[in-house]
Amino acid sequence: MQIREANIKDSEAIKNLYLQAFDNLEAELVSDFAVNLLHEKSTINIISLVAIDNDAIIGHTSFSPVFLDSTNENFGYILAPLAVLPTHQKNRVGSTIVKHGLDTIGSLGAFIVFVYGNPQYYYRFGFKTDLAQNFTPPYTLQYPQGWQAMKLNSTAFPDGGKFQCVNSLNDPKLW
Ligand SMILES: CC(C)(COP(=O)(O)OP(=O)(O)OC[C@H]1O[C@@H](n2cnc3c(N)ncnc32)[C@H](O)[C@@H]1OP(=O)(O)O)[C@@H](O)C(=O)NCCC(=O)NCCS
Repeated sequence: MQIREANIKDSEAIKNLYLQAFDNLEAELVSDFAVNLLHEKSTINIISLVAIDNDAIIGHTSFSPVFLDSTNENFGYILAPLAVLPTHQKNRVGSTIVKHGLDTIGSLGAFIVFVYGNPQYYYRFGFKTDLAQNFTPPYTLQYPQGWQAMKLNSTAFPDGGKFQCVNSLNDPKLW
């Protein structure tokens, strides 16, 4: 398996991956979100990664920058979305692509990374719910228990605050 940066030519394969990995209620929403991120230009680069096996895309994730409301400063990223093709799940594809992404944003100097998902999956990477509590995302969370964060280095960073995301995440249905 290889991990590489995704590009616009991967849009269809990425869309199909999410349509298969998520159930009907969320599949269209999350697949459109993944593809929108591929096309979005942000002042700080959005990182989209694909896992490739036998020339096929079997996994995908993205890390997009977040900006403090008070200063507009970019202080971290949010990991979203993430999916592995059902036929390839439970084979460490998800772990490998997430760790690759965390290393990448760490090397770019990010202080903190957020995720909104199942804590039983994300705790293994070091995400914690308590660290996230003082950081308020732009929309009300339907599932506050899933709001988590992880420090990427020991640099001091704001204790909390309201923040903004890239345009592709500006949809209350995603929160
Ligand atoms: C969640 C998902 C990305 C995991 O990918 P994966 O490649 O199957 O995960 P890995 O093989 O790297 O799993 C690593 C560990 O997490 C566990 N795990 C996998 N999926 C899990 C889930 N949904 N909930 C809790 N634990 C999970 C595995 O059992 C494994 O545990 P172990 O270390 O004790 O062996 C994949 O199942 C998926 O695409 N699901 C549908 C889409 C989705 O829910 N995405 C958002 C995640 S909140």
